[in-house]
Amino acid sequence: MLSCPSTTFCLCITVFFFLYSFQAVTSTGIKKGELFLADINTQLKNKNITTDIKVDTNSNVFTTITVDEPAPGLKTILSFKVPDQRSGKAELQYLHDYAGISASIGLTANPIVNFSGVVGTSAASVGTDLSFDTASGNFTKFNAGASLSNADLIASLTLNDKGDTLTASYYHIVSPLTHTAVGAELTRTFSSNDNTLTFGTQHALDPLTTVKARLNNYGKASALIQHEWRPKSLLTISGEVDTRAIEKSAKVGLALALKP
Ligand SMILES: *[C@@H]1O[C@H](CO)[C@@H](O)[C@H](O)[C@H]1NC(C)=O
Ligand SMILES: *[C@@H]1O[C@H](CO)[C@@H](O)[C@H](O)[C@H]1NC(C)=O
Ligand SMILES: *[C@@H]1O[C@H](CO)[C@@H](O)[C@H](O)[C@H]1NC(C)=O
Repeated sequence: MLSCPSTTFCLCITVFFFLYSFQAVTSTGIKKGELFLADINTQLKNKNITTDIKVDTNSNVFTTITVDEPAPGLKTILSFKVPDQRSGKAELQYLHDYAGISASIGLTANPIVNFSGVVGTSAASVGTDLSFDTASGNFTKFNAGASLSNADLIASLTLNDKGDTLTASYYHIVSPLTHTAVGAELTRTFSSNDNTLTFGTQHALDPLTTVKARLNNYGKASALIQHEWRPKSLLTISGEVDTRAIEKSAKVGLALALKP
């Protein structure tokens, strides 16, 4: 839990503000012949403490104070907006080779507490993302997941929608040379007692042309072929059909994506 680091810390911040308030003031959006001040950004930096102050056109003052590395890998962030006090929040981030944790709490009487964390390596990891509303005593968000991966296989299990949806997925690279891969995903929604199983595959016909196809247990099939006819420019033809009602449901699409 973190609310106010210490009195010394707050005093320091005040002192820095006065000492450096004329430094590093940048403004953008000043139009010729008009008194129009879009944004003022100030950044005050001292050792590992960075204070960002931003004033927008509606005279809202956004302040973010970041303390880097009070302990290795740790970062604390305090941000608030004046006059809207409800926007204030304190945040704690911890980044390490094998763990990433972020926690935040609103600076109000009945704050929302957010927590997310991932622990693991490139081969296996578990994580969670939650949001707890202290006013109602309810979790407004509760997601968790785990994954395993190696050079040619990724498997994952995730729990979403506050525990109502469980998804297991599996992705296997059959041939790296032709980008051939197969995958399957099973999603179960407990509240509606619904299971969806989807199979998919992809394959590169040549280095510039890829085909993908998938089918689910409700008989919906789709396929696409994508060709890179110029670097970063893709031509895609896709089709979708509900095999239980072919005449009504067939759809064909053509898409062209151009990138400079
Ligand atoms: C600032 O960060 C460095 C590492 O980047 C750390 O060694 C040092 O203790 C930090 N200083 C303070 C005052 O937190
Ligand atoms: C918690 O997360 C939600 C979105 O998931 C966000 O809208 C809210 O501002 C966050 N609250 C805090 C205190 O960080
Ligand atoms: C808290 O959650 C329960 C079940 O998830 C729900 O019935 C209840 O209405 C919620 N309370 C509030 C205040 O949102």
